[in-house]
Amino acid sequence: MTTASVIDVDYEQPAGSQAGSVCDTRHAWARVPPEPSPDERTALKARIRRLLNDRNAVMVSHFYVHPDLQDLAEETGGIVSDSLEMARFGRDHAAQTLVVSGVRFMGETSKILSPEKRVLMPDLDANCSLDLGCPVEQFSAFCDQHPDRTVVVYANTSAAVKARADWLVTSSCALDVVNALHAAGQKILWGPDRHLGDYIQRQTGADMVSWNGACIVHDEFKALELELLMKQHPKARVLVHPESPADVIALADAVGSTSAILNAAQRMDATEFIVATDTGMLHKLRTLNPGKTFIEAPTAGNGGTCKSCAHCPWMAMNGLVELANALETGAGEIHVDPALGLRARVPIDRMLAFTAGLKNGVAPGSLVAGIGAA
Ligand code: 13P
Ligand code: SF4
Repeated sequence: MTTASVIDVDYEQPAGSQAGSVCDTRHAWARVPPEPSPDERTALKARIRRLLNDRNAVMVSHFYVHPDLQDLAEETGGIVSDSLEMARFGRDHAAQTLVVSGVRFMGETSKILSPEKRVLMPDLDANCSLDLGCPVEQFSAFCDQHPDRTVVVYANTSAAVKARADWLVTSSCALDVVNALHAAGQKILWGPDRHLGDYIQRQTGADMVSWNGACIVHDEFKALELELLMKQHPKARVLVHPESPADVIALADAVGSTSAILNAAQRMDATEFIVATDTGMLHKLRTLNPGKTFIEAPTAGNGGTCKSCAHCPWMAMNGLVELANALETGAGEIHVDPALGLRARVPIDRMLAFTAGLKNGVAPGSLVAGIGAA
């Protein structure tokens, strides 16, 4: 598969970072809030419950955020899920305010799908290396070089990049969408995650060119160390998110989105699993599978930097204090230009219609017919 040239992402520490509130290693860039004490935690949760009620709000959390934000979302009638279900849930829920704990593209997707709702996030600086590594001007120029290709972009992108796409996908539906487009004879321009694009290309055989982005978390998983760990745990099954490098994916017993990893762990009869995805996922895996053991897949090991801890620094910026403040004051509100939102909504709606159709047994070919490059 051909890839575009690499965009160097400048991982600056977000503006306003305070001393002591960040990871102290040299490569840290995120503003990670300090852990509240048990008393503070109880008080904060009570305050958030009251505010959710007063503000007619619901929590939408990703699997990678702090366990407090996952548990509270479920306790209060919200959801903990992957990026696809987060988008669908926010759109369909009656609440007038959505509090999205995750990263910026998740809040923006919710706002695009529900422009009439208020969408709040604990910290608007929570971003994603894939989004940062795919500026719309360069991506658009790349698309212009390939007018004969259908543009398929991953959800981890800005509203402007989504607006340039024919299709939006998340890791839970990317394979199905590209498969259907390939079967319909379409050539694909993929962006921005090169590992996921590469995986989909290998699985589908589609004619694809790809943007050269990567997730700084999954990119750090190491096949050699994983093989050593597998030798120490010969009965363990290996679960891998497809944003990981190809040699790591090659060792997997199951490859898939966060929800697919969760399903595989519940479905497989093994009692031990090695998990190559963000460590935030371990909370849900352990809660739902009390009799099973989950081991973190190795990253760069002793030679590693802060980049190698297998936890997304931007996901880690979501905290109880920030969430309570957002609800109290309206800080952290997501705004998307309405005209841009309308354009960005087109590929998102296509994805939601495609996945709903597939679930209802509609033939994939008819779900992609007539959409994309000729
Ligand atoms: P999912 O779409 O699987 O939830 O993944 C989102 C993400 O950011 C993974 O790193
Ligand atoms: Fe982006 Fe990776 Fe963080 Fe997911 S884990 S939000 S892909 S940087």
